[in-house]
Amino acid sequence: MTALWTSAELRAATAGTLAVEVAVSGIAIDSRAMQPGDLFIALRDARDGHEFVPAALAAGAAAAMVDHAVPGAAPLHAPLLHVADTLAGLTALGAAGRARSKARVAAITGSVGKTGTKEMLRLLLGALGPVHVPVASYNNHWGVPLTLARMPRETAWAAIEIGMNNPGEIAPLAALARPHVAAITMVGEAHVGHLGSVAAIADEKASIVTGLLPGGIAVLPRDNASYARLAAAAVAAGVGRVLGFGRHAAAEVRLLQAATGPDGTRIEVDVLGQRIALTMPAVGLHHADNAACALAVVAALGGDVARAAPALAGYAPGAGRGAAQTIAVPGGEALLLDDSYNGQPPAMRAALRNLALRPARRRLAVLGDMRELGAYSAGLHRGLAADAIAAADLVFCCGPEMQHLYAALPVDKQGALAADSTSLAPLVKAALRPGDAVLVKGSLGSRMAVIIRALTETNP
Ligand SMILES: Nc1ncnc2c1ncn2[C@@H]1O[C@H](COP(=O)(O)OP(=O)(O)O)[C@@H](O)[C@H]1O
Ligand SMILES: [Mg+2]
Repeated sequence: MTALWTSAELRAATAGTLAVEVAVSGIAIDSRAMQPGDLFIALRDARDGHEFVPAALAAGAAAAMVDHAVPGAAPLHAPLLHVADTLAGLTALGAAGRARSKARVAAITGSVGKTGTKEMLRLLLGALGPVHVPVASYNNHWGVPLTLARMPRETAWAAIEIGMNNPGEIAPLAALARPHVAAITMVGEAHVGHLGSVAAIADEKASIVTGLLPGGIAVLPRDNASYARLAAAAVAAGVGRVLGFGRHAAAEVRLLQAATGPDGTRIEVDVLGQRIALTMPAVGLHHADNAACALAVVAALGGDVARAAPALAGYAPGAGRGAAQTIAVPGGEALLLDDSYNGQPPAMRAALRNLALRPARRRLAVLGDMRELGAYSAGLHRGLAADAIAAADLVFCCGPEMQHLYAALPVDKQGALAADSTSLAPLVKAALRPGDAVLVKGSLGSRMAVIIRALTETNP
């Protein structure tokens, strides 16, 4: 097998020094996830990765990238790639990985739906040839370069996820990814606390088009309230072609039909004049939107959509993203919808709509705080009331922000309110009856997975 990176390439890409000849087969930034043969890159996060260099080398790292002396004993003649700064070194390696690649590359951003769309593209593009996508939501200042640095030489198609927490973060990552296609899944109030307004979020998302290669295409959400703003930004940035996806009559990739039920979601899409119909084992209409986005990306990349599309029949959302499982409750079984991974306003509303679709004796919504909403937070939490009332028979809330929703509910919908997920878990557990469907959702920081664990652990 050809090496991912040779010593000569590592030196050239990073302007670093490396005294020995090595061939690395992968890249790791976490010594616990390292495979033998990897290049271990010592980044600084909560702890300094340099502390783990001796352990990484002992565990079979082919080399380690460092920018200062390794604390503790590194073996004599250890294969150390010395650079001025390891994050800059990783970024340079990402740029080199992109520069040498002949792949057709798409970059995906949006308030929610990035990872889902990226996973759909893994399947769709994988049906057309060697595909490369990030292993997880690696969408930030280290995740994007890491994904590009890991891109195998033979990659023909790639989908790169790009996220943001603060203004100005997307453009440099898009410039690094240099995509042929830049897609925005949707724009909503996610993390609005950092940006101040939905318009500011739209402008930040739109900056992804500034990284497009000449002749590149922007794929934009036609049904979104910010569509006109996004399209205007693309045109202003010199983008020659915009493809809209959605239900709108003017969408170039048009969702003609979308029906979702407990067994999955069936869609019919007109992709630039080609009719595509398929069913995915994923419940929730937002999967239909993400699929339309993903199909638009395939078409914009120049892929054979008809050949790729059947692969979506294998799409099921990952853990914490709405996966359904049966759990034991006293006297029978209930259905648990684990949506504990992400809880921003658009995702909350989509998840509540999905709960409403589940046939069940009673529907319970267990909701934790949506984080990073700044001054909008109380209003956005309270603003979920209509969706929560429509979807659920009983609503359980935890956290200082979700109490605003709880207070806005009629008394007969109030299940329980608690300070945090740990204290809410036993109350939910005690309330569950056979035949119930229970949705658990909140921002990752609200630790709703604690409730998932409490509901799935078997009684002694
Ligand atoms: N197009 C969409 N519209 C509304 N909500 C969505 C959409 N796509 C996904 N979601 C919701 O957002 C959650 C996170 O989805 P994910 O694809 O991981 O987003 P991201 O990578 O952008 O954070 C999902 O569990 C789902 O609840
Ligand atoms: Mg993600």
